[in-house]
Order: sequence, then C-alpha cells, then structure tokens
Amino acid sequence: MRVLITGVAGFIGSNLATRLVADGTEVVGIDNLSAGLREHVHPAVSFHHEDIRSRGIAPLFVRADAVVHLAAKNCLADPVETRAAARRPRTQKMASRR
Ligand SMILES: NC(=O)c1ccc[n+]([C@@H]2O[C@H](COP(=O)([O-])OP(=O)(O)OC[C@H]3O[C@@H](n4cnc5c(N)ncnc54)[C@H](O)[C@@H]3O)[C@@H](O)[C@H]2O)c1
Repeated sequence: MRVLITGVAGFIGSNLATRLVADGTEVVGIDNLSAGLREHVHPAVSFHHEDIRSRGIAPLFVRADAVVHLAAKNCLADPVETRAAARRPRTQKMASRR
C-alpha cells in the first residue's frame, strides 16, 4: 500500500507518516516547509519539497492508493490573539496594521 500525505512535515502529517511507516506502509510526502520541519519527517518517507499548488506534483498521485490531505496554513497559531483581534473595532484593526 502506498499513501501520499500532503503537509507531511507538519504536526499531524509527520506523526501519521511515522505510524504508517512502522506498519510497513510505503509513504510519499509533500510539504513546502512553510511551517513544517524536514527533520520531523521519517527518513523512510519519500519526501518532496513542493507546494501543493504546483502542477509538478501530479505524477505523485498516479500510484497512490490513498491520499491524506493535511497541507494547510494554520491560522490559529495563537488562538487567544486571533480571538482578541476579531473583537477589536475595524478602525483599531486598520490602525494596528500601519
Ligand atoms: N493539530 C490539530 O490539533 C488539528 C485539529 C483539527 C484539525 N487540524 C487540521 O489538520 C490539518 C493539519 O494540521 P497540523 O496541526 O498538522 O498543521 P501544521 O501547520 O503542523 O502542518 C501543515 C503542514 O502543511 C504544510 N503546508 C502549508 N501550506 C502548504 C502548501 N501550499 N504546500 C505544501 N505544504 C504546505 C506546512 O509546511 C506544514 O508542514 C490542518 O488543516 C488543520 O487545520 C489540526
């Protein structure tokens, strides 16, 4: 079985990859390393430093039995600040961006 994981260097992707490798599954991973770390990816993973918006990754899907799509921009890095920012009046938000 061959599993393709996008966001393989991220929190969930890297842990999932490690588990699948331990189970004997062949894992192919894609990550642009915008947030994830290469060293978190298990060495047995066939790693591709690519952006998921790149057309060049299409061939990687051809032989995959399953795809787990986890590549995403984490917008809740700081949930407390995100919530506070959402509550600030619009004029204050614009002033704080300057
Ligand atoms: N961590 C949680 O507790 C949790 C809970 C519920 C849902 N989720 C969702 O699961 C998904 C993965 O979460 P995570 O915690 O592993 O996030 P993460 O930020 O640790 O991992 C996301 C990975 O995607 C990569 N990435 C981002 N944009 C990319 C792009 N355009 N091309 C290629 N790679 C790209 C990043 O480099 C990163 O390694 C997200 O959609 C998140 O919202 C996470």
